[in-house]
Amino acid sequence: MTQPQDLYSSYLRLDRLLDAQTPWSNQAGRPAHDEMLFIIFHQTYELWFRQVLFELDDIQRRFSASVVDDRDMQPIVARLDRIAAIWRLLVRQLDVLETMAPQDFLDFRESLRTASGFQSWQFRQIEARLGLRRADRVPVFHGQFDDGLDAGHKSQIAQAESAPSLYDQIDGWLARTPFVDWGNYKFWESYRVAVEQMLDSKAAAARQGLVAEALAAELEAIDRGRRKFHLIFDEAGHDKGVEEGLWRMSWRGLQAALLITLYRQEPIFQMPARLLSVIMDVDELLALWRYRHALMVQRMMGTAIGTGGSAGYGYLMATLEKHRIFGDLYGLATYLIPSHSLPPLPESLRSAMGYRYHAGSAP
Ligand code: HEM
Repeated sequence: MTQPQDLYSSYLRLDRLLDAQTPWSNQAGRPAHDEMLFIIFHQTYELWFRQVLFELDDIQRRFSASVVDDRDMQPIVARLDRIAAIWRLLVRQLDVLETMAPQDFLDFRESLRTASGFQSWQFRQIEARLGLRRADRVPVFHGQFDDGLDAGHKSQIAQAESAPSLYDQIDGWLARTPFVDWGNYKFWESYRVAVEQMLDSKAAAARQGLVAEALAAELEAIDRGRRKFHLIFDEAGHDKGVEEGLWRMSWRGLQAALLITLYRQEPIFQMPARLLSVIMDVDELLALWRYRHALMVQRMMGTAIGTGGSAGYGYLMATLEKHRIFGDLYGLATYLIPSHSLPPLPESLRSAMGYRYHAGSAP
């Protein structure tokens, strides 16, 4: 009969897990003490990546419905919160690896040959499933980023790239938000009028309070602001922005994201607003991880090229900006207007969106 103490071991398959650390510097006959930390470090990362993919499976399954059930929003947001918490840990965890001195790394670096985190196919799947497109990647000199992977792992990445990403799913979900056009209420029209009024009253205040040069500068700044808003007011302008790489989100998705953000206190928008916020947390934490990892790489190897064949530090710093996925959500902040300039929603829409329960209405 299995003993209770063995159950722990067999449940966690510790025999296999703890037998999976084989420093290559030992095999090369020059054992390097710190290689153990290096291996365990990468393994713990890969375990966390596995958990992130597991959470993404569930999130994307819920999002794949043609109409996402409101009840799915809570688990979706909870799982994204978990992914953010894991990534926060992965950033902080680098402190431990940085207890390894560059010289100690150098002592086993050669034994790694071409092995590099660059070949982490789980990391590539996470990037692709979140929405990083192949065409948007920073080029590496030896060809495609996945050239060095075996056929099975390559096809997993290709599959992730060809299926709708979380980015696509969120954009589609936003674009379907019904409240952007609700009976006579047209959010975009009401928003456009509010923006023009806000800018007109700013210009009027400037004309009253400022003179000569200061007035000219202020009016020019207001005009710049107006041109910026006009970029998104009509569909053709928005589409041009997409062509030029300013936006990726659909025009309708962009409108819904603004509606949700501007009126986030409405009960029906509270969860969607949380979702947009936690997606930004994940995007920001990925960027933070890229930055910390790049700094660590610079500390360990200066400007030497990486074992994976990229330019090393320079390549990693370029990914920091270029591999951001949900940049559009940050771009939204450019188009927010102060609450006091925001028109109230019509009562018919508020009651359509509100919760039905009122005190005294209990059975
Ligand atoms: C001493 C520690 C480390 C060094 C010196 C290092 C070095 C590098 C270098 C130079 C690259 C660029 C690709 C290449 O040419 O190899 C890279 C990429 C990468 N490394 Fe590390 N790394 C270290 C630790 C880690 C750890 C602990 C992880 C966790 C899994 C990791 C994951 C990655 C990933 C995912 C990439 C690909 C990044 C991208 O293409 O956007 N690295 N690493």
